[in-house]
Order: sequence, then structure tokens, then C-alpha cells
Amino acid sequence: MSTLRLEDLRQYSDTLRTREGETFKLRFVEPRDTEELQHYFRSLSTRSRYNRFFGAISELPKGLLHDFLDVGERERFTVVATMMVDGFETIVAEMRYALHAETAAVEFGLSVDDRWHGHGIATALLKNLECRAAALGAEHIFGETLRSNETMISLARKSGFAFVNHPDDWKLVRFDKKIAVAPKDIPCASWRLAALSRQADSPSASA
Ligand SMILES: CC(C)(COP(=O)(O)OP(=O)(O)OC[C@H]1O[C@@H](n2cnc3c(N)ncnc32)[C@H](O)[C@@H]1OP(=O)(O)O)[C@@H](O)C(=O)NCCC(=O)NCCS
Repeated sequence: MSTLRLEDLRQYSDTLRTREGETFKLRFVEPRDTEELQHYFRSLSTRSRYNRFFGAISELPKGLLHDFLDVGERERFTVVATMMVDGFETIVAEMRYALHAETAAVEFGLSVDDRWHGHGIATALLKNLECRAAALGAEHIFGETLRSNETMISLARKSGFAFVNHPDDWKLVRFDKKIAVAPKDIPCASWRLAALSRQADSPSASA
């Protein structure tokens, strides 16, 4: 069971940096993001959308949009990376992750605005995900991509993932990483809040 208190999603926000040192925010998606999220997906290149969803879509279908906005439902979460552009908070990347408690694993998928490719945003997101996953009690994180997606494969390799064949689909490759780094080395708000909540629950804390 997740320890996240979804009534106050904003406390789980993190500030991350691009490779050039520019800061951006990573936070749970909120209902107010609905239009901006669709705008983000519509603005992705056809190829990026195909690589993200393994199929041709022009925007999120209604059901999927609803799932994306339903943070915490069935241990599934959506985060958006945002930057201030011309005074507007603009989505520059998104990541969706799901806890599989029975295997202590977190599965994820992500995309970055084409204009921001190559700036280290996905690398920062994956590092942050390790911390978020650890806070959920996961021991490893994994994702899947099309075999033709050299960029994602290269990113996963550089981020320390190992590759295995997909059990059901030869067109896909699965990459998996054990969460080895002590989460205190890669702090994120989720980890700090989970630690605080464990402290509050322990018998010695109430003594
Ligand atoms: C895959 C993706 C998320 C990478 O995002 P990104 O922010 O550009 O990645 P980073 O800048 O952190 O790059 C990390 C590594 O990825 C690889 N990479 C990035 N751009 C690349 C490119 N155009 N060609 C080949 N490798 C590339 C490199 O190994 C790079 O490391 P390096 O810069 O030290 O060489 C992005 O290309 C994307 O959104 N693609 C569409 C959606 C998608 O494919 N999702 C994955 C399936 S879930």
C-alpha cells in the first residue's frame, strides 16, 4: 500500500537540473494540467509519440488521459517536468510509473519534449525515479521499449540498466535496474516524507 498522502500532492515535488544546470520542477500531475498535458503530447513529434506509446496516436485517448490524471490509483503515478517559459509553467517531460508490490518493482515509461532532447532531462528523471521507487518500497525499476528505439536503449545503458528479452513480444526489449544507491544519496521529497511517516509510525516515536 502506498504511503503517499494524495490530498497534498504538491509536497512530493522535486527540483532537478538539466545537464547545463538549468533547474526544472518534477511534480505529480494535477487536474489543472489537463489541457497542457494534451498540448504537450500533441506537440511531440510523431516518432516520439510512437516510441512512447508503441503505436500511432495524436493525443491521449480519453480513457488514457483519465488514467494519467488519476495519480495514485492502483499504485500508478504520473509526474510532469515543468519549466517557466514566457511566464507560463510549461510541461517539458512526463513520466508514468507503477508499483508492482508483489515483485517489489516499479515499471515506468517517459518522454521528453523534442526541443529538449539531449539536455539530460531523462537522465535526471530516471535518477529521481530510483528515489521515488525506493520510497514506495521497490527494489528495482524496469521499462520496455521498441527494439528500434536506439535513444532509449542508449539512455538505459548509460543509466545502468541491464537488458532482457521481452517475455511476450519480440519487438520489445525490457531493461531492469536494481536500486543499489542508498536513497539518502539521491534524496527526493517522496523519500523524506516516507521516512518521516515511518518514524511517526514506529512505537519508539510515540513513547
Ligand atoms: C528517450 C528520451 C526519453 C531521452 O530523453 P533525453 O532527455 O533526450 O535523454 P538525455 O538527454 O538524458 O540523454 C541520455 C542519453 O540518451 C542517449 N541519447 C539521447 N539523445 C540521443 C539521440 N538523439 N540518439 C542516440 N542516443 C541519444 C545518449 O546515450 C544520451 O547520453 P549522452 O548525452 O551522454 O550521450 C527521449 O528521446 C524521448 O522522449 N523519446 C520519445 C519517447 C520515448 O522513446 N520514450 C521511451 C519509451 S518509454
